[in-house]
Amino acid sequence: MTRGVKQLEEQVGSILGNYHYDKGMLISILQDIQAECNYLPREALMEVSQGLEVPMSRVYSVATFFRSFSLTPRGRHIINVCLGTACHVRGGVRILEEIERKLGIKSGETTENLRFTLETVNCVGACALGPIVMIDGGYSGQMKTDKVKPLLENYT
Ligand code: FES
Repeated sequence: MTRGVKQLEEQVGSILGNYHYDKGMLISILQDIQAECNYLPREALMEVSQGLEVPMSRVYSVATFFRSFSLTPRGRHIINVCLGTACHVRGGVRILEEIERKLGIKSGETTENLRFTLETVNCVGACALGPIVMIDGGYSGQMKTDKVKPLLENYT
């Protein structure tokens, strides 16, 4: 974790304050923490549990229910390789493997320097342009393995 526990406590305290320590705002509170930290650190969830007087088990079940929440650090850039049928038949897996090789991580993992998190998706609605790679929501279509390196270099 790059931030101190004290700093984290203060950030969580101020987010809880923004919502007047309202238990009913648990999801919004977790969204704000995720936006600040890029993930939900365990210490932050403990602060939320204590601050709202909600059991840790309840905080955890909300944090794990929504796919948009992450309990592990995420990279500054999120790569989504489409493996839907259209992209799959056009070589999506080869693109994924090339990205995995270049970054030294597998799908679902984050690089140690927190630069990238690599994930797969099933169809992003641009099948005609497949195979598709999305980085931070921006589409790159008709991907080829030799386009992977220059594409990644655009993101620091
Ligand atoms: S299958 Fe990849 S965009 Fe539809």
